[in-house]
Amino acid sequence: MSNSLVSFKQLRIDVKVTRSRRLRIVDSATFDVEHGQLMGLIGESGSGKTMLCRSLIGTLGRRSAYIESGSVIFDGTNLVNATKSDWREIRGKKIGYIPQSALAGPNPVITIGDQLAEAINQGQKLDRETVHKRSIELLEMVQIRRPEIVLKQYSYQLSGGMKQRVMIACAIAQNPKLIVADEPTTGLDVTVQAEIMVLLKEIRKNLNTSIILVSHDLQLINSICDDVVVMHAGATVEKLPSEEIINALHPYTHALYNSRIDLVEPRGKLVTIKGQPPTVGAWPTGCRFADRCDFVQDKCLFGTQMELLKADTNHETACIRYDEVFLGAKK
Ligand SMILES: Nc1ncnc2c1ncn2[C@@H]1O[C@H](COP(=O)(O)OP(=O)(O)O)[C@@H](O)[C@H]1O
Ligand SMILES: [Mg+2]
Repeated sequence: MSNSLVSFKQLRIDVKVTRSRRLRIVDSATFDVEHGQLMGLIGESGSGKTMLCRSLIGTLGRRSAYIESGSVIFDGTNLVNATKSDWREIRGKKIGYIPQSALAGPNPVITIGDQLAEAINQGQKLDRETVHKRSIELLEMVQIRRPEIVLKQYSYQLSGGMKQRVMIACAIAQNPKLIVADEPTTGLDVTVQAEIMVLLKEIRKNLNTSIILVSHDLQLINSICDDVVVMHAGATVEKLPSEEIINALHPYTHALYNSRIDLVEPRGKLVTIKGQPPTVGAWPTGCRFADRCDFVQDKCLFGTQMELLKADTNHETACIRYDEVFLGAKK
């Protein structure tokens, strides 16, 4: 038994498209998150990152999706079998969730104070004094100045960055063991993005929470994460310490790294990954990146190639040619 806080094992998620048609969205997610670890989860749009997050907060059903096979163990509980009452104890309490900023902010029709009170109470009814004290404390933890005033305000009175700080305050209200942040800075400007990232890192340090931080922007998250898991076409294809990213052992990770926006010179051209990711659920046999890979050989086109191969103590890759391509070994 592992001591990890979260353990995904060959998780497969399907979605019901019609009564008889199923689409496979995620079909091999395998990785662990340790206690207190800040784990980055990256991959192009459509690779299955949000679905993976949903499996941790029990909201797959809202997208007509379900876990077909595999397991996701959180703190000793297999979430695949979690009942509604299990979720009430997990979601918002043991696992906090920070949504994508541009899509969801604080509830527009109630004050920030009422919103925080909901997160603090979570069904129970604490006295007003306790709730107020905790609300102030939470707003201070997310570095909001003049918290007394902010408590009386509504979402529309706050800037994008402030809204996201409030959402983070709500997510940490119950001292969760894990925070899932799904692209938490999308739609915010670059300086605010960086501030939110620093804040998440501080929260991890102060509360010793584990964090899964999702992004399609490797540059943004790589500098603050301990480790990074790379997803491509429904599968985890590489896991490595973030400082090792330049020594990645999967061509897809290199392609992501080389298409970073910060590499673009003023008025220069953005490098993109050539070709298109394969259509969801209509994945080819063999390596799903083969079509776009500069190192493809015949042997890449067979099998399922979803197994992560151990390349080093903390480094796993699904590329079967990693030692030839990146380490120069002759085979
Ligand atoms: N209810 C659904 N029906 C059909 N396809 C879906 C449904 N929900 C998600 N998908 C598809 O599943 C894929 C993975 O989605 P998602 O996890 O949101 O990707 P990511 O977060 O990495 O961008 C996407 O291609 C998306 O279009
Ligand atoms: Mg997403």
